[in-house]
Amino acid sequence: MPVATAVTVPFVDLKAQYAAIREEVRAAIDRVLESAGFILGPAVAEFEEAFAAFCGTREAVGVSSGLDALRLALMAIDIGPGDEVILPANTYIATALAVSALGARPVLVDCDPRTYEIDPERIAAAITPRTRVIIPVHLAGQPAAMDAVLAIAARHGLAVIEDAAQAHGALYRGRPCGSLGLMGCFSFYPGKNLGAYGDGGAVTTNDLELAARLRRLRDYGQRVKCEHVEQGLNARLDALQAAVLNVKLRYLPAWNAARARHAETYRAMLEGVGDLAFQQRVPETTHIYHLFVVETDHRDALQQHLAERGIATGIHYPVPIHLQPAYAALGYRCGDFPAAERLARRMLSLPMYAELQPEQIAAVVAAVREFYS
Ligand SMILES: Cc1ncc(COP(=O)(O)O)c(C=O)c1O
Repeated sequence: MPVATAVTVPFVDLKAQYAAIREEVRAAIDRVLESAGFILGPAVAEFEEAFAAFCGTREAVGVSSGLDALRLALMAIDIGPGDEVILPANTYIATALAVSALGARPVLVDCDPRTYEIDPERIAAAITPRTRVIIPVHLAGQPAAMDAVLAIAARHGLAVIEDAAQAHGALYRGRPCGSLGLMGCFSFYPGKNLGAYGDGGAVTTNDLELAARLRRLRDYGQRVKCEHVEQGLNARLDALQAAVLNVKLRYLPAWNAARARHAETYRAMLEGVGDLAFQQRVPETTHIYHLFVVETDHRDALQQHLAERGIATGIHYPVPIHLQPAYAALGYRCGDFPAAERLARRMLSLPMYAELQPEQIAAVVAAVREFYS
């Protein structure tokens, strides 16, 4: 039975965000409706230019989702059967699906139990003569330990494709995620720090030839209309979504900064409470707090306690890739990636969005403290 509290706290609040940008979004959508240009066109081109500038890359290619961004990036460097691609065991399943969809093999590596990011020390042991790519995932909005990842990749002649689906605007040594590897893959799923009103994604790169190939691959492999130079997908960013993203991108720096302030408040008020532990920071990074994660041995009970007080939380992610039924054929077993498995049992994401109000943060903190009292 829910306990009545004065303040309810959703996990994300897209309605509050919309209320702040309603007029601009409606005008932008209306411009696309009036133009009747729904596929690619000026709204997509405008967004691609603005997003590339935001990421510090020469190009950004708008695509249909984060999964398709990863899939197209791998297609653009001809990954296929017989190839192996290294990725963390503790990621969203899309990272692995992009690899296996092309007939290549996802090779999993455990995370650093402190930072939750792929453990560079373990990458070398996973490299074989078939390895072609490493996909570090900037998990929860914190850049992975990219210097170490890039060094291993360079030593072995491997491409680095960043999964930046949770890291729009996160910085590694002052450089934006998406500009650190050969390509960066973004999701604009509505709940992301930069979210569309439907599905969307982008691939960023400094390589103009790769960008041209990505533009073909997302559009049936067409070079010009009806000249199909290779077999592609229908995986374009919608003009309507691009119009929404064009408006939202202008607010993203302020939204990311607000999330970081909320994270600092959570951290200051929850440090030392019960058995709570926090995601350790990778040095010289700017975290954009797509998620604010706490760890506890009492995760399920804490989640239930918060739910009874009107506070919504999430678990990202409860089952690591190697224990998903879809990947049973990879042959991994329970115990293979202990850090990822422990996190899956212990992690809980607290409400996090730019519009969080001080009284909402106070309510979350009070409810967590009450749980441990
Ligand atoms: C780390 C990561 N990779 C890939 C994706 C896939 O993005 P999408 O849902 O847009 O396909 C997501 C989000 O869902 C994600 O969090």
